[in-house]
Amino acid sequence: MSERLEELQTKVESLGLQKIQRHIFLCADQTKPKCCSYEQGLASWKYLKRRLSELGLDEPTSDPATLVFRTKANCLRVCCAGPILLIYPDGVWYQQATPEVIEQIIQQHLLQNQIVEENLIVTHRLPQAYKET
Ligand code: FES
Repeated sequence: MSERLEELQTKVESLGLQKIQRHIFLCADQTKPKCCSYEQGLASWKYLKRRLSELGLDEPTSDPATLVFRTKANCLRVCCAGPILLIYPDGVWYQQATPEVIEQIIQQHLLQNQIVEENLIVTHRLPQAYKET
């Protein structure tokens, strides 16, 4: 195996890419803040990171598998009522994801599998485009 592939494989394992249960995208640190102020987006991002870490949800685990991946999105193209937060594979879009709302999303959506109706924009699971091997 080449050095590059070995490095890549090590990264895949340390991040636990094959154990991800949910992936959260949050509009923050935008080039052009439109859905919320730049400061609001960053405050939400910092809160999300901190809470996932405190709850151990950012660590790859096997039983139960609880790994939640998080990605700061420059813009999720909704561009109003932000910060906008999106959870896959659930396909759930949330508005006004302030730190308080993020805490609710963590407690209710991530830990109890219940949508936070008050901040729901829309749900849309992506169709499966290929067969898993
Ligand atoms: S700037 Fe947040 S969705 Fe576009």
